[in-house]
Amino acid sequence: MMEHFERFGLLINNQVVRTPIAIASMAGYVDADYVRAREKHIGLAFIGGYSIDDPAMKASVLMAAGGRQEFIHEDMIAGLRNQVSCMAGSDVVLGINMRGSSPAAFASVAEELGDGVVYEIDAHCRQLPMIEAGSGEYYLKNPVKLTDIVKTLKKSGVTVSVKIRAGVAADDRALAKALWKAGADILHVDLMDFGYLKLKQIRNSCPVLLIANNSLNTFDRVKDMFAHGADLVSLARKSDERTLSGLDAAITRYTDEQGWYNAPKQLCRGGDVRALTFCCMPVKSCPLIPTLDSLDIKRDEYIRLKEESVRGTPLEAGKNTCFGSLAWCCKNSSPCMFRNVTLQQAGISSKEYMRLKRQLSEKIIHHIYYDRKGDDAC
Ligand SMILES: Cc1cc2nc3c(=O)[nH]c(=O)nc-3n(C[C@H](O)[C@H](O)[C@H](O)COP(=O)(O)O)c2cc1C
Ligand code: SF4
Ligand code: SF4
Repeated sequence: MMEHFERFGLLINNQVVRTPIAIASMAGYVDADYVRAREKHIGLAFIGGYSIDDPAMKASVLMAAGGRQEFIHEDMIAGLRNQVSCMAGSDVVLGINMRGSSPAAFASVAEELGDGVVYEIDAHCRQLPMIEAGSGEYYLKNPVKLTDIVKTLKKSGVTVSVKIRAGVAADDRALAKALWKAGADILHVDLMDFGYLKLKQIRNSCPVLLIANNSLNTFDRVKDMFAHGADLVSLARKSDERTLSGLDAAITRYTDEQGWYNAPKQLCRGGDVRALTFCCMPVKSCPLIPTLDSLDIKRDEYIRLKEESVRGTPLEAGKNTCFGSLAWCCKNSSPCMFRNVTLQQAGISSKEYMRLKRQLSEKIIHHIYYDRKGDDAC
């Protein structure tokens, strides 16, 4: 698994993620058997959704009577234990997508199953019986109830994901930020038809791990998501072996060539806040200045942050570049003789340069969200 960690640098629930592709849940279909049949091509899977209390289970029964596939178990905990044991020996990180109507219902599943799995709150299901049961999409209109569940689950010390549908909550950015503040580790976002601009807004609102979802069945679409803030992508309807293996191969090839699988676009080309790693000194009128203003970062602070972050690293070099250090240099996709000569002289490959820029970006993000007092950065 070290090879996968070196390639993607992804850890979820203290487990290495072998590839940034997830299977998203489909009630009645995605269980341990479904996942194991595809395990060579994915890194994470959310089985379920499972209805974990009486109101949600009654909704499932109604939905099944209406012709939908649902997982109906006499004893849900026994059923889930069985699912978890069927995943033994697999290197896929396991998540359980759950529908329930109270914090206690979620906490009791976490107490029974422990911290070996990721707990995903289904705030996504838009079937009327589920909404009327106070579950699924109901939470997008009642965000305080959703954050209460996150807080309660976090008290059990488990990893928490929240599955949301974009465009339903009053403000997706505010919701993302509130979920992060409540302790959510992962936001799993069905982007519907909003595309990567919505993803970018969410990326610029919080530092949690982001999974982009909806029709991400081609490498071009996946690449767009990675370039605008996704840490992983997930597939549900097209989670067949052929599609998953094609994506896995393409992402791996691309990463082995480029070094940073989800490198952002440059800020002036529409990149998200991670793109500050590629930005110059603040000396001209360009998108950097309004971005710093929106983050409430003074120019001096930004300069100091980048200078201190590269100190003692190979990015400190670069006397012959525009601003005297590779810290200020552009993405490898922008051709530049000065940068390339500097890299060549220092024996740094383009791939290694991008890996170093990723590290710089992580330091910048950490500073924005965790190091600053009154952290209302977004
Ligand atoms: C039949 C079916 C069942 C689904 N059940 C769930 C569910 O239980 N929980 C959930 O969060 N999403 C559920 N979804 C939504 C999917 O996880 C996913 O968000 C959606 O299908 C869009 O992704 P895709 O384009 O890759 O299919 C379901 C989708 C389908 C088609
Ligand atoms: S600082 Fe440079 S890279 Fe960043 S937005 Fe301005 S011109 Fe683009
Ligand atoms: S030296 Fe080249 S890569 Fe570096 S900032 Fe100047 S133009 Fe960009």
